[in-house]
Amino acid sequence: MILPGEKAPSHRHSQGALRFITNGNGAYTIVEGERIFMEEGDFLITPGNLWHGHEHVGEGPMIWMDCLDIPMVYSMGGTFFEPYPDQLERPRLPDNFLAGRYQGGMTRPIQDRYASVAPLSSYKWNRTLDAIEGLSHFDPDPFDGYAVEYINPSNGETANASIASWMQKLPKGFHSKAHRHTHATIYHVFRGSGYSIINGEKFDWSKGDYFVIPNWAWHEHVAAEDSFLFSCSDLPIMEKFGLEQSQEFVQYTGHQEVTGEFKPKTA
Ligand SMILES: [Fe+2]
Ligand SMILES: [Fe+2]
Repeated sequence: MILPGEKAPSHRHSQGALRFITNGNGAYTIVEGERIFMEEGDFLITPGNLWHGHEHVGEGPMIWMDCLDIPMVYSMGGTFFEPYPDQLERPRLPDNFLAGRYQGGMTRPIQDRYASVAPLSSYKWNRTLDAIEGLSHFDPDPFDGYAVEYINPSNGETANASIASWMQKLPKGFHSKAHRHTHATIYHVFRGSGYSIINGEKFDWSKGDYFVIPNWAWHEHVAAEDSFLFSCSDLPIMEKFGLEQSQEFVQYTGHQEVTGEFKPKTA
C-alpha cells in the first residue's frame, strides 16, 4: 500500500517484478525515466535490472499486488540489488510514453521484430476487459473459463519471462472441471465471489481475497456471480525446464483413489 505523498526510492535488482493494481488511482511507477500512472485493474511489469520507484501524487490509499521471482533467483545464485544514486529517479520521457507504441493491438513496430524485454510496461484494465468480453462469445476453457494471458507483444511470450500472469472471468454459475498441474498459482479475487475446491477442501472467496493452488493439487472453481480472478504462476519456469505436467480429474470416489488420464504436456 502506498499513501498520498509517499515515495518509494528508485532501485534495481535482478529479480523480475509485476504489479496488479487492486485499489485506488493516482500513484505512478517510474521505470527507466518513464512515469507510468496506475489505475485499478492495470497490470504492470518491471523486468529484472530496470530502475524503478514509485510516488503517490493522488488521493486515498492505493494498493497493489506485487509478485516477484525472488526465491528462484536466490536459489540460482543470481541475486543483485542496487539503490538509485539520487532517491527517486526524475522523468526523462513524457508520461505513459511507451504505451503509445502498441496502440494498434494487432501490429508490432518494425523495430521490435527482434524481441525487446519490456516493450510495454503497462496493460490497461479496459483493454483486458475488452479482450475477455470478446472471448465470452465462444466456449469457455473447461478449467479456467474466459482467460487471457498478459504477453510481451514483441514476441508473444509471457509478459514476465519467469512468471505467467492471467486474468480470467468465471461467469455466474460457471463450474469448472477439476484438474491438477505442476505449476503453482497465486490468485487475487478482483471482482465477484465464489469458491474453489482444493484437494477436496472448499475455500470460499470474494472480492479482495487471495488464495493459492499449490503444485499438483486438484482444484476446481465455482462462481456465485460474474467473477474476475487475477493470477500469477511459475508456469514459464516449469515449461522451460520440461517439468510441466497436467492431469484431468475424471472421477471422484470420495477418497484418494482417482481415475484419470495422465497427460504430459508437450510444449
Ligand atoms: Fe523493486
Ligand atoms: Fe488450474
